[in-house]
Amino acid sequence: MPSTARSQLGPAAPSCDALARRFRDVRGRTEVLRAPLSAEDCVAQSMDDASPTKWHLAHTSWFFETFVLEPAMPGYRPFDPQFRVLFNSYYQQVGPQHPRPRRGLLTRPSLDEVLAYRAHVDAQVLELLAHGAGRAEPLAAVIELGLHHEQQHQELILTDAKHLLGSNPLRPAYRSQSPNGTRAATAAPLRWRRFPGGVREIGHEGRAFSFDNERPRHAVLLQPFALATRLVTNAEFLAFIDDGGYTRPELWLSDGWAAVQTRGWSAPLYWERQEDGWAQFTLAGRRALSSDEPVCHVSLYEADAYATWAGARLPSEAEWETVACQVRVAGNLLDSDRLHPAPAPRGDGVQQLFGDVWEWTRSAYAAYPGYRAPAGALGEYNGKFMCNQFVLRGGSCVTPATHIRATYRNFFPPDARWQFSGIRLARDPD
Ligand SMILES: [Fe+2]
Repeated sequence: MPSTARSQLGPAAPSCDALARRFRDVRGRTEVLRAPLSAEDCVAQSMDDASPTKWHLAHTSWFFETFVLEPAMPGYRPFDPQFRVLFNSYYQQVGPQHPRPRRGLLTRPSLDEVLAYRAHVDAQVLELLAHGAGRAEPLAAVIELGLHHEQQHQELILTDAKHLLGSNPLRPAYRSQSPNGTRAATAAPLRWRRFPGGVREIGHEGRAFSFDNERPRHAVLLQPFALATRLVTNAEFLAFIDDGGYTRPELWLSDGWAAVQTRGWSAPLYWERQEDGWAQFTLAGRRALSSDEPVCHVSLYEADAYATWAGARLPSEAEWETVACQVRVAGNLLDSDRLHPAPAPRGDGVQQLFGDVWEWTRSAYAAYPGYRAPAGALGEYNGKFMCNQFVLRGGSCVTPATHIRATYRNFFPPDARWQFSGIRLARDPD
């Protein structure tokens, strides 16, 4: 890759040994996440926005082959030249792509062939890192980017598998209950913490990895604000439903109300009203709704309507970041192996900033002042999506712990519900 990749996509360039260790760890974890799924599970696609697991396994390998192996190894022969189209997601500068809504039709190559593709790419990248003196170092930042890309797809493997299995009338479990499935049974009380206004800085700086969309660090002007000390719970969201929340247009953004009407929304995704109460589909199968867990799988529209009903609002991403940058990155993330949001722990200060659910903000996903997309195809990674989406912060119960940080900006369209997305309230002080 050109040197611009090093400077703009991630200034840190870890040693080849450290990178090789991390490469093995991250790539291996992807296959651990795949293991509970059958070959049939890995092929099906439940909706246009979701991809089959097999496609994720191949696409993440395609990323390393395209952006690392081909530039580093003159004369490199692709594992299969046809994969260049099949497993290209959206990189127009690389070439045409197989249409996303038709990824589930790719019964060939087989899962075994895709796993062989992964093994081939793994061996080639590790060989490059071990013996490619002079060739690997310039690509270290791109390999690092590829590992963070792989971690994004690890989360997508779980969210997309959940949508697939949740679309099956049998509601099969991805996995039986997690061994680490317990935290507090009851959520801590919701309190408000006030923060002063003033000029603050947000965004990433320094040598540690970040995506380009987190930079440059810049000043923002905040008004005084208050932030809820924990996430909104299922019980609190149920009170919104019971108060006619989904039938009261005065609570909703116009596009949100249109979505409620056209899609028939009356509860978060995966909620099911049964004779004996509400149930919820989880990666461990269907079970009774837990009152104290954070509400999850809501759109920006539902989060905003709930906030309006509650006499509050959603935080801006700048408000969120200035609070989150003061706490350690820890929480119910993928590494806790729970795969489901947990009730808020007790403690001082603002809880659950990291993990459990991605927190919708009221901030449109846009470029920071001074942002320029990197040159070349990798410049398509983030910048071209800065339109018609909203920012989510903090990671979820299926986000790898080494993938999240206070400056991390996730983004989805306002009607997206299949991610582990929830609600933290903010408000203007009295
Ligand atoms: Fe991707």
